[in-house]
Amino acid sequence: MQQRNLGPFTVSASGLGCMNVSMGYGPRIPDADAGRLFNAALDRGYSFLDTASLYGLGHNESLIGTYLSSRRDEYVLASKCGFSRTAEGKTVMDGRPAVLQETCEDSLRRLDTDVIDLYYLHRIDPQVPVEESVGALAQLVAQGKIKTIGLSEICADSLRRAHAVHPITAVQSEYSLWTRTPERKVLATCSELGISFVPFSPLARQFLTGKSPDVTAVLEDDIRATIARPRFEPQNFAQNQKLLGPFGKIAESNGCTRAQLALAWLLAQGDNIIPIPGTKHMEWMLENAGGDAVSLDTATVAELDALINEDTVAGYRYTDALMASTDSEKDWPRAGGLE
Ligand SMILES: NC(=O)c1ccc[n+]([C@@H]2O[C@H](COP(=O)([O-])OP(=O)(O)OC[C@H]3O[C@@H](n4cnc5c(N)ncnc54)[C@H](OP(=O)(O)O)[C@@H]3O)[C@@H](O)[C@H]2O)c1
Repeated sequence: MQQRNLGPFTVSASGLGCMNVSMGYGPRIPDADAGRLFNAALDRGYSFLDTASLYGLGHNESLIGTYLSSRRDEYVLASKCGFSRTAEGKTVMDGRPAVLQETCEDSLRRLDTDVIDLYYLHRIDPQVPVEESVGALAQLVAQGKIKTIGLSEICADSLRRAHAVHPITAVQSEYSLWTRTPERKVLATCSELGISFVPFSPLARQFLTGKSPDVTAVLEDDIRATIARPRFEPQNFAQNQKLLGPFGKIAESNGCTRAQLALAWLLAQGDNIIPIPGTKHMEWMLENAGGDAVSLDTATVAELDALINEDTVAGYRYTDALMASTDSEKDWPRAGGLE
């Protein structure tokens, strides 16, 4: 795979989103199958793995620790902190320094490693100034527990405040043809400050591959039926599906699959962009690795831009409640988002 710079690291142009084997898109696969998938991904050339303490409440990090700790020098490891569990068993945003410190120690144990290469604050907790949370992450750097700091779903203003406390290596937020929020401000801020940008849900939660079901066909433990429901609601979904025919034709004329086209479009947005498609299927992991072999000319990028964007897509990316509590949405005030 092609290589890209990520702070002090060199990584494959696309990383592997590891979440899916533990949660998010239907039932888990057996642990041993996840182990085989992870090992095959390293063999194929993926050298950037994305997980979080939140994914399967530690299950995902433990899988990486169990199946990949013997190959620790072959991948740059990213994980995340910033959630805690209430006494009632509810998972809530929590950016308090003591929580971040404790979560990191749990992550290290589960990942079976001495140091995490990139540790993100998973969400900006509105109750805790971003400077305090990043200050805690800076302490973890000083303690040698993490090498670099990342932030997820952050708006441009919060990013600048955070970067003034400690250099930020990467921002990870949703970005794809159908979610353009980062284009408002954060991408430019990242370029200005020399920060990498890691798009999550780069395949639009499978929509762009043409294989995604609408919410009437998915199980309850599927993100598309819960927090990311609006675009998969039958009425919006039927509208959105009309985009897939022309999208498929562009893929065909570029000699690639729709998934590869979605990744190639992201990779064409800048050298500091490193998408992390997620899958629990071996063949899809291999297919996605080929996204960096697709080179798009400027006319094709413009054609894709005009075809699929927030004006041509029906529905917001998240439910209204989630739009309202997500820091990155401050860059794009709109109905449902933060004002
Ligand atoms: N920072 C954050 O808040 C945040 C939020 C969400 C995700 N993430 C990270 O980003 C990663 C990727 O995001 P995501 O999983 O939400 O979205 P995504 O990569 O856009 O899409 C995942 C969906 O597409 C399917 N898929 C993958 N490759 C495919 C292919 N070639 N053909 C057809 N279907 C394909 C997957 O199926 P299967 O899973 O059934 O194989 C799954 O349903 C996650 O694994 C996670 O590490 C971070």
